[in-house]
Amino acid sequence: MRYEPAPLGLLMECENSTSEGRQARCLASRASPDRRSHRPVVIRGTCLPGLALDRLARQRDFVRPLDLGCGSGILAIAMAKLWAVPVLAIDNDPQAVAVARDNAAINGVAGRVAVAIGGGYGSAAARRAAPFDLVAANILARPLRRLAPGLARSLAPGGCAILSGLLDDQVDWVMAAHRPLGLGLIERRSLAGWAVLVVGWGKA
Ligand SMILES: C[S@@+](CC[C@H](N)C(=O)[O-])C[C@H]1O[C@@H](n2cnc3c(N)ncnc32)[C@H](O)[C@@H]1O
Repeated sequence: MRYEPAPLGLLMECENSTSEGRQARCLASRASPDRRSHRPVVIRGTCLPGLALDRLARQRDFVRPLDLGCGSGILAIAMAKLWAVPVLAIDNDPQAVAVARDNAAINGVAGRVAVAIGGGYGSAAARRAAPFDLVAANILARPLRRLAPGLARSLAPGGCAILSGLLDDQVDWVMAAHRPLGLGLIERRSLAGWAVLVVGWGKA
């Protein structure tokens, strides 16, 4: 069976405007396990990093974003579409790298999204492209903590990072690894027990 690729044009569209309960409609396409076909995936409901990207896109421009732990590439593709700039996407899982490349291509941004294998900010691709003015890291609380020094080394002055994949009750724990490095909380949103943080230099 073949599937049609789904364009990401609606990726960050909000379906309603209530501030806390805003729903994002994230439209992505994922490769089948044999990578010979693509299946459109519509993720309805919460997409906290997507909502943070949506808000940032209304506030400012970015020229050098990084998607760390890109998985399917959904956030990298979103950033490439939102700001029409080159985006670096890194994952330590070779299958994710292959799928993210496919997804970037079928969504028309292969020329803007460079996908590389790598573990964290110390990987060759990340070191070459740093500093970044926007980082999206939708990983988990523990790796977010472990990667905090690398983020601090790689984030440009004035830059900010979207940290997600953590639970509400892990926010203080994750921030405790960032604050001593000079990275404070710019914004925090929660939905259904999950949190997304926007962190940046010099914030409380
Ligand atoms: C929860 S998934 C998120 C995928 C995608 N960013 C999204 O928002 O749907 C986390 C991804 O991070 C990758 N990952 C975890 N630790 C990593 C590290 N230290 N360096 C690079 N990638 C990592 C995993 O392989 C996985 O693909």
